[in-house]
Amino acid sequence: MSTPAYALLLRNGRLLKANAPEPIAADIAIADGKIAAIAPNLPGTAQLELDLEGKLVSPPFVESHVHLDSALTAGEPRWNESGTLFEGIEIWRDRKQDLTLEDVKQRAVETLKQQAMQGVLFVRSHADVSEANLVALQGLLDVREAVKDWMTLQVVAFPQDGIYGSPQNEGLIEEAMRLGADVIGGIPHYELTREDGVRSIHRIFELAQKYDRLIDIHCDEIDDDNSRFLEVVNACAIRSNYGSKVSASHTTAFGSYNNAYAYKLLGFLRRSQINFIVNPLINITLQGRLDSYPKRRGLTRVKELWQQGMNISLGHDCVQDCWYSLGTGNMLDVAFMLIHVSQMTGRSEMDACYNMVTWNGAKTLDVENQYGIEVGNPASLIVLDAIDRFDALRRRSTVRYVISKGNLLASTELPQMQWRA
Ligand code: FE2
Repeated sequence: MSTPAYALLLRNGRLLKANAPEPIAADIAIADGKIAAIAPNLPGTAQLELDLEGKLVSPPFVESHVHLDSALTAGEPRWNESGTLFEGIEIWRDRKQDLTLEDVKQRAVETLKQQAMQGVLFVRSHADVSEANLVALQGLLDVREAVKDWMTLQVVAFPQDGIYGSPQNEGLIEEAMRLGADVIGGIPHYELTREDGVRSIHRIFELAQKYDRLIDIHCDEIDDDNSRFLEVVNACAIRSNYGSKVSASHTTAFGSYNNAYAYKLLGFLRRSQINFIVNPLINITLQGRLDSYPKRRGLTRVKELWQQGMNISLGHDCVQDCWYSLGTGNMLDVAFMLIHVSQMTGRSEMDACYNMVTWNGAKTLDVENQYGIEVGNPASLIVLDAIDRFDALRRRSTVRYVISKGNLLASTELPQMQWRA
């Protein structure tokens, strides 16, 4: 019997599994872009063989919420000196006057490359569809096609100025569905009235069902404890039986609700099983700006939602733009910030935060059928300079290798520190 010949053999890895706290020792063989075999001491040869020296093998990171159309524009045409959401919206209104297809595509691809080199191979990006020419959407749809061999990109039609904020917006978001956006978005707390906000959510569900798309709504991203659109999203999800296809992004007001209301709502949320997307890097800086002291943290009730078994995944929201000039695309930075801001410092809680940038994100994006290191799945995985989840988070470990659909996409040398005293 001849020994099998593979395209790629990863020797001596420590393989992370979704429900096991400790990784297991394994070799991984890859052929024809798929995982061909997983076992310790696999027999066989390969065109390329890598000794992982006991490093951690993980499914790739999932970026559940980013705005690629505004990425890499920080300082254009001016910096956000107040740091507020509203100055950011004013600056973006000016910057987007200069938006062209090439401008959007160039910055989006550059950002996706930065993300991929840090182990992100699944991205959900919002595209502002409040402009009559839909240039941001068209640019990101073109990019989705251009990067599909190495990155799975989902595009959300996001009405930044509200579906009813101006007369043409309702038509524009439906046009975005026809053009092929994967997901329909919304921003009910930024509609002109509470009634418009509720109406916008009903319209989003109608369009999602008409075009068979996922839903991801910027929901209650405000410190106002009277902003209560999450209950409307949840009720629509229950009644339409659309639960796991729906995501509520931000929901920062949930952190300010009184406990009597919050715990009633938690019970209702269990019925729908919608997804929550949390953006701790940006919301710790944007929210609480009008507070004196004590200042709120600008975060939804992450720990309580997790304890209830709700699916939570994470995003940067912004990478170097007028709302958040920092950010590198590294999902370990996001999870690290979440651990601090949500006080999820128990060992199992920190492991859960790692799952939020991996498996939970795949559930949010509804890509579980192509995600995970299992024989027969597409060979997309990352190798981290870490021994387990906790180690990866504590040190925000370097991603040594990124393998996408069987191809070695990126590698990073480890920095060398030397004691010179
Ligand atoms: Fe956002």
